[in-house]
Amino acid sequence: MKALIPAAGLGTRFLPATKAVPKEMLLVVDRPAIQYVVEEGLASAADEVVIINSPEKAAIEAHFTPDPDFVALLRQRGKDAYADAVEAVGNLNVSYVYQREALGLGHAVRCAAEKTGDEPFYVLLGDVLVPGNQMLPAMQAVSDAHDGASVIAVMPVPEEQVSRFGVIAGAEVEPGVWKVDSLVEKPAVEDAPTNLAVFGRYLLSPRVMELLADVEPGVGDEIQLTDALDAVLREEEMYALVVDPSEGFDTGTVESWLETNNTLFARR
Ligand code: G1P
Repeated sequence: MKALIPAAGLGTRFLPATKAVPKEMLLVVDRPAIQYVVEEGLASAADEVVIINSPEKAAIEAHFTPDPDFVALLRQRGKDAYADAVEAVGNLNVSYVYQREALGLGHAVRCAAEKTGDEPFYVLLGDVLVPGNQMLPAMQAVSDAHDGASVIAVMPVPEEQVSRFGVIAGAEVEPGVWKVDSLVEKPAVEDAPTNLAVFGRYLLSPRVMELLADVEPGVGDEIQLTDALDAVLREEEMYALVVDPSEGFDTGTVESWLETNNTLFARR
């Protein structure tokens, strides 16, 4: 099973810092943000992480490429702890596919179709870090309890923020678990069916990947993952696990990235 991490974005909100350094490579305490997300993927049922990269962001790949000469040099100099850290990063099971045009999250995910084949897969959005790695196993448990159905993480947000997210409609079937009836991407406040926002962790059936091939551009003229999720509901069940905002750390804006650094540093 694969975990997909879309990483081809331009990092606009962090310019000029992200002119030469990919947003995913910005430091969070002691490692680049994307390393947390890769480690989270590999701590789940996934055996491989697939980064959906842009050809311009070579630094991401350099970070995960083994460098035995550098490790040997560090050991020679008695810096074993650093050598171990560098070696461990090179041993993470990461591969790459490329999104050559910024056509939306749904398009990015679809770029990994050959990797996922006919298996379920995870999608992990890098704007949120879950350093405890507890969310994907909890989603997997909900899926297992419901015949392998797709499961998405959702988070209650203040009503005035719903139009920044995908939003679900449905009914709570057990505490903290909803059966999803429909999804809408970035609704106007008055059109939002609930305040449960799609949070950026997905466990999806292979049918979602197939349907993505036919999704037309939607909100923002982008091919939306949310639209494929809404479409698959005509054929399959889907559940939403309500997560607590404190389970994830936002790095999507300069302010939230700084706050996340402070919080995670204080926790060390
Ligand atoms: C994406 C998804 C949206 C989801 C959000 C979570 O939006 O399209 O459904 O709620 O991530 O962060 P983006 O933030 O890329 O606009």
